[in-house]
Amino acid sequence: MSLRLTGIGQLATCPADNPQGDAGLVNDAELVIADGRVAWAGPAAQLPRQWASTEPWDCQGRLVIPGLVDCHTHLCFGGWRGDEFEMRLQGHSYQEIAAAGGGIRHTVKHTRAASRQALIDKARSALDDMLALGVTTVECKSGYGLEPETELRQLRTYRQLDADHPVDLVPTFLGAHVIPDEYAANRSAYIELLCQDMLPRIAADGLAEFSDVFVEQGAYGLDEARQVLATARELGMGLKVHADQLSDGGGAALAAEMGAVSAEHLEYASEDGLRAMARAGTVAVSLPLASLYLREHYMPARDALSAGCRVAVATDFNPGSAPSYHLPLAMLLACINQSMTPQESLMGATTIAARAIARHDRIGSLRPGYLADIAVIDAPELNHWLYHFRPNACIARFKSGIEY
Ligand code: NIG
Ligand code: FE
Repeated sequence: MSLRLTGIGQLATCPADNPQGDAGLVNDAELVIADGRVAWAGPAAQLPRQWASTEPWDCQGRLVIPGLVDCHTHLCFGGWRGDEFEMRLQGHSYQEIAAAGGGIRHTVKHTRAASRQALIDKARSALDDMLALGVTTVECKSGYGLEPETELRQLRTYRQLDADHPVDLVPTFLGAHVIPDEYAANRSAYIELLCQDMLPRIAADGLAEFSDVFVEQGAYGLDEARQVLATARELGMGLKVHADQLSDGGGAALAAEMGAVSAEHLEYASEDGLRAMARAGTVAVSLPLASLYLREHYMPARDALSAGCRVAVATDFNPGSAPSYHLPLAMLLACINQSMTPQESLMGATTIAARAIARHDRIGSLRPGYLADIAVIDAPELNHWLYHFRPNACIARFKSGIEY
């Protein structure tokens, strides 16, 4: 089965090896899909003759981009926390609310109480909306169970949705999100449970590709995180770190030291930490919606880029710090509040996001051989799309060449 996207006003190919500021833009382009993959993409005038009679799909002068990759979400959770939103607006900080038993612990209570079906239904509804926005791959973390049964329920929710839903899900184990209340007086016993029970079971069942740790005051210290990450690495899992979100705790340097594929947040990361990440090839994942909602400063994306890091942009969708899965909004915030150019922002939500989940050889670019994960955007070109913010400018999306 093949299809030829014609009349593309601007095509962003987002090659994996391009500098972040160069999204591989081609005006007046065409793109050929064959057997679920990109067979050819380039200027319409250069279309090879072999594709000239392929069935056309007219883009009518619109922008065509790779299907967006949301490389950091906490997609599966029970309950919501709108009351904490009001409390924060009244001056209570995220940390203060967490210390009083709210925050992540509140969501843990509601996730433990939720049935598997309720979790599936809720996450599916979010995925439907994300796909409508042009998102075709979503990384998704556990971390609201903090006990074997519920952590596994979250990861099995992802496995089921990956099978049932057009969007591809990439699961990450975040059992080291915070220390659960029942282990407050015995942290090392919970870390032992993580390392000796949960991680080996999850690795054996292939229920998560990556393992993540929240390094922060009130969450995990550096030595605790190192222990969890080293265990996951020995079990063959890729590593991620929630680093330096609310304070500089050395999380960026730890991610680099451990060879993590990515470090996330980094609002307070030091220059040295960012440089260590650049040397290690650890992707810096920026989560501007969390800064917006927590009214925190934004990750210094320009510093990260100058240090030599690649900067991905993701939503961090969760019921507390970032209750939105609107990736184009996160991309706009990255432009306005982090001075990323529209091309840097788009690269950050496509090929660099794919790199943060070790898939940049398959998705996130519109080069021959890549999966035909494509979004058609109702805008004549990239700058216009990102500056003229609309509820949803995506008018068609293809996953592995199939239109949804
Ligand atoms: O990425 N920082 C830690 N974890 C999440 C927030 C989770 C929550 O508030 O429920 C984050 O921001
Ligand atoms: Fe997060």
